[in-house]
Parts: sequence; structure tokens; C-alpha cells
Amino acid sequence: AISTIRTVNGISRRVAQWRSEGHKIALVPTMGALHEGHLSLIAKAKDEGAEKIIVSIFVNPTQFGEGEDFDAYPRDEKGDLAKLTEAGVDVAYIPDAKQMFAPGFATRIHVKGLTDGLCGASRPGHFDGVCTIVAKFLLQCAPDIAVFGEKDYQQLLTIKRMVADLDIPAEIVGAPIKREEDGLALSSRNAYLTKRQRELAPLLQRTLQDMASDLAEGRPVEDATAASSFRLESAGFKVDYLEVVDPERLQTITGVVEGPARALVAAFLGKTRLIDNIAVRPK
Ligand code: PAJ
Repeated sequence: AISTIRTVNGISRRVAQWRSEGHKIALVPTMGALHEGHLSLIAKAKDEGAEKIIVSIFVNPTQFGEGEDFDAYPRDEKGDLAKLTEAGVDVAYIPDAKQMFAPGFATRIHVKGLTDGLCGASRPGHFDGVCTIVAKFLLQCAPDIAVFGEKDYQQLLTIKRMVADLDIPAEIVGAPIKREEDGLALSSRNAYLTKRQRELAPLLQRTLQDMASDLAEGRPVEDATAASSFRLESAGFKVDYLEVVDPERLQTITGVVEGPARALVAAFLGKTRLIDNIAVRPK
């Protein structure tokens, strides 16, 4: 059966016990409101040979900006625990803010370069908040592997960088984007969409797909992104960014794409900010 652990001490003790028994341990960090995207990370952890799986649930206040949706962010602990039980997870680790941020807490981890553009540019401080909390979870849980979704592509690369730079002894594993039938990437924030917005939302992925094939056939980046932005804006999206970057360092690519690249988009439907991304592979 699943155990719910709510303290740093509690998780440390459980992990120490598993370690002494020689188990391979996986951590899947989440903010809850779990959906099939999160569950696919658990499946990935099992594929990677994990014998004990911890899913953390913590709506991290430090990664939300002023005026963002921290208060409104969906919370459903009961539903989450049912899904994690069903998925065969060993521990749901659900610390409260007092556990994570003791009085006097003063540290932030900042990864330079990778976090300058894209979501980092629109959400100042966001990745510092993400890195700090993920570092804490990695140190508290000391897993062999930790699984993150490519849905948050910039986050995945940033965490890989941090873990390498700080010699955190965990392997960071990426998992592909899980989508609805109509192509919309699963996200806890999809719950905010009105019926009309939900119908419009799959255009985000369709536009990325069409753009990726245009780019693969040699259409210059400036052209392709302008046309795609126009398509999204005409349909009712407010585009935050739409960029084509190199898939490792996230540097903007200009002109014709010659090697592997990644196209990333963030766009608003009303107040809801959606993100998606796709690989670009020139022929
Ligand atoms: P959250 O948005 O809950 O996502 C938790 C993990 O699930 C992340 O690694 C994210 O990339 C992955 N994920 C979300 N939707 C997905 C989808 N459709 N397909 C595949 N993976 C998906 O990302 C966070 O929380 C936080 O920033 C966190 C890392 C927990 C730090 O607070």
C-alpha cells in the first residue's frame, strides 16, 4: 500500500531503509492535480528499473510570480492519492511549506544562461524557485533517478545542468510529452480553460507540427515563426513567445535550420498560459 509521508525526517528514514535493502529509487517531483502526463513519468521510472518510487506533491510558492496563479492552482490531495495508489507508487511525499521553508530560509539556486530566454524571460525568478525546490527534493530523497517531462523542456535542461554543476548524485531522466487525443499537451492548467478555449487549444500543437515540417524543408526561421504567430493570434491566442532554438543550449537559431533543433511556444488563451514544444529534424 502507498504511504503518505509529510516530513523531511520521515522521507530520509524511509529512503535510508530502502538504500540498506539495495533498492533502486526513483523520484517524480510534481505540484499535484495529477493527470496522465504525471503518471507517464511513473511508468518511465519503472521502465528505468526503479524498484521504489516516490512522487512528491508540493505547490511551490517560490516558482510563481506576482499575479500568477499560485492561489488558484488546482489542489486535490485525495484524488492524487487515489491515482498514485492505482499506479503502484510506494510513497507520496507531501511536505507542507513549513517543512520546506524553515524560518530564515535564504537560499536560491540560479542556473545562468539556460534560464535567460523563453519562460525565464517571461517569468522572472521562476527557474530559481524551481531549481531551489528540486535541489531540496533531490537532497531529501537521494534518489538514483529523477524523472521530468519534456513538456517543460527548458525546466528539464535547467535541472540537468544544475545536477551536473552541483554534483548531485542523481540521474535526470526525460520523458516524452503526453497528449490528449486531439493533440493538446496534458497540463494541470488545462482545467482553467472554458469549453470554447478548450476547443481552440489543440491548434497550439498543430501549429508547432506544421512549423516543424516547414522548417525541416528549409523555410527560414524568421518566416516560419512569423507565419505561425500570426496563425495563433488570428485564432485568438496571445503569443508570449514562439522560438526555434538549439536543443541543448537553447540559443536562438536564425535562417535555415541545418541540424537538430527545438521549437517552443508559450501562449495565452484568456488568462491561461499554455506551453508546448516539438523537435525539429531537418532532412
Ligand atoms: P508539474 O507541472 O506538476 O509537473 C510535474 C512533472 O510532470 C514535470 O516534470 C512536468 O514536465 C511533467 N509533465 C507535466 N505535464 C506533462 C505531460 N503532458 N507530458 C509529460 N510530462 C508532463 O513541473 C513542475 O510541476 C514543477 O516545476 C516541479 C518540477 C514539480 C518543481 O516544483
